[in-house]
Amino acid sequence: MVTQNDKAPGAGGRAYPITDHVFDVVVVGAGGAGLRATVGCSQAGLRTACISKVFPTRSHTVAAQGGISATLGNMHADDWRWHMYDTVKGSDWLGDQDSIEYLCRNAPAAVYELEHWGVPFSRTEEGKIYQRPFGGMTTDFGKGTAQRTCAAADRTGHAILHTLYGEALRNRTEFFIEYFAIDLIMDASGRCLGVICIKMDDGTIHRFRSSLTILATGGYGRAYFSATSAHTCTGDGNAMVLRAGLPLQDMEFVQFHPTGIYGSGCLITEGARGEGGYVTNSSGERFMERYAPSAKDLASRDVVSRAMTIEIREGRGVGKNKDHIYLHLDHLDPKILHERLPGISESARIFAGVDVTKEPIPVIPTVHYNMGGIQTNYHGEVVTLKNGEPDTIVPGLMALGEAACVSVHGANRLGSNSLIDLVVFGRAAGLRARELVTPGEKQADLPKDSADLALSRLDRFRWAKGGTPTAQLRDKMQTTMQSNCAVFRTGEILAEGSQLIHEVWSGVADIGITDRSMVWNSDLIETLEFDNLVAQAVVTMDSAVERKESRGAHAREDYPNRDDKNWMKHTLAWLDAGKQKVNIDFRPVHTYTMSNEIAYIEPKARVY
Ligand code: FUM
Repeated sequence: MVTQNDKAPGAGGRAYPITDHVFDVVVVGAGGAGLRATVGCSQAGLRTACISKVFPTRSHTVAAQGGISATLGNMHADDWRWHMYDTVKGSDWLGDQDSIEYLCRNAPAAVYELEHWGVPFSRTEEGKIYQRPFGGMTTDFGKGTAQRTCAAADRTGHAILHTLYGEALRNRTEFFIEYFAIDLIMDASGRCLGVICIKMDDGTIHRFRSSLTILATGGYGRAYFSATSAHTCTGDGNAMVLRAGLPLQDMEFVQFHPTGIYGSGCLITEGARGEGGYVTNSSGERFMERYAPSAKDLASRDVVSRAMTIEIREGRGVGKNKDHIYLHLDHLDPKILHERLPGISESARIFAGVDVTKEPIPVIPTVHYNMGGIQTNYHGEVVTLKNGEPDTIVPGLMALGEAACVSVHGANRLGSNSLIDLVVFGRAAGLRARELVTPGEKQADLPKDSADLALSRLDRFRWAKGGTPTAQLRDKMQTTMQSNCAVFRTGEILAEGSQLIHEVWSGVADIGITDRSMVWNSDLIETLEFDNLVAQAVVTMDSAVERKESRGAHAREDYPNRDDKNWMKHTLAWLDAGKQKVNIDFRPVHTYTMSNEIAYIEPKARVY
């Protein structure tokens, strides 16, 4: 609803006409989490807007391949408690066990809901949802191998995203497509009141007022040089939260997927190893047998990525420069490849020139997922450490999916636990919204200056006339993150990385842009995205400097062991833009479960 037009001056003293909208709930992001929350809020009778910078079915969930985990028990007996055990172990005991219990208990219902809405899952002979093995998934608390990952061939994310978009339309959600969110509107008490956006087809400014704002803006993989993430994965919500004076949690934990295609970074699903694929080094050795004697190629991702990196570092990589590894599918029945892995067979042909029925695929560990993000509870509400009190709710604000850190993935996420995270917590957010917001409730008028901060930020870049092109800084950020905050880390490499990434950050003051138009793909929009990325890169690097132990994806060669005595805690990082500084504090891991149906799973050595 357009309620008023006014003008707010940007930093350059220019005025922008503003179009106002009022909704009960505004969801920013139209991937799996955003759409599932949108459906829930709309079904609750709440007037819901979903804002997305890309067409919803182009959101990055579309690229998810291998599947979604849930203990349906279609291939063998299964139990959510086993799923919970695997997830806690996968997280290297950094995950909050109350949240993990919520995820695993609610996973089967969330998958059946998707099935009923029309997701075209692959089927078993009896017509049940087909489930494949994935890394780190076991039966009976680690004793057997589980087939728990529900698949729609190797295009599961695509199938889910299209189904959810249809369901949101059916429930009369209002979509604002190709709107770029500049910043949140926060009041002096710390409540979120909405968000300011640019409509990228005509460059107009839109102010969304809402009782509840839900950030589902995805990860920030593009802070790195080589990532499976789309170019749109710039973590815009995370950066808005930092600018709102809130911390990001556990940002040092960045997942490298073992099998990105060498050279292009395109994902080759873990489902390829689930269907029987394996990796080899230059002597043709199936080296995972040495690193993970029991799970082998289906060990957890951090374990496989480290093993591959060691093989390459010790001279056993393949190719002219011995700098990658082979993934073999050529021994598998071509019928299975055609039925269950058609998408990656095509990607391998296009991006590596390989016929998977005859030759191995050249692969390398590639940035894939951010375990860290906006701290939330398992209802999706954003929480923070305030006045010494951990887990204090930030009113009016929720976060979901890869943008959030709830924390179910802790220090390392298990494959196929991402899609289930999106729909379980997307659904939880809808349920919580139903309790928190009354449809059509009156919202106080926004203060006149509510758009000023966002528009000052816009103007700062729109009229930037410095000497450094954004692309140059982005290149330096990406190469610094790639080389100084990678699979293995040391204090020395991280300290150098911190210095370099702070240099990039301070370089923002000298940005000069050429194309000032407020429309898609302009230099201006890319600069706003870069500014978001570099903020997250800085907190990622500095959080990694701080954590002096090895846990999950954070492997410090100078501190090779997990240290539960000193480091069983979550990192919280605030950005002080004025002082160009990251401030770090910690909060305890939740060492309790949600119900009395399962006891806290005590830490132990993590072997596969
Ligand atoms: O390998 C994959 O198919 C990716 C799945 C995931 O990250 O959950």
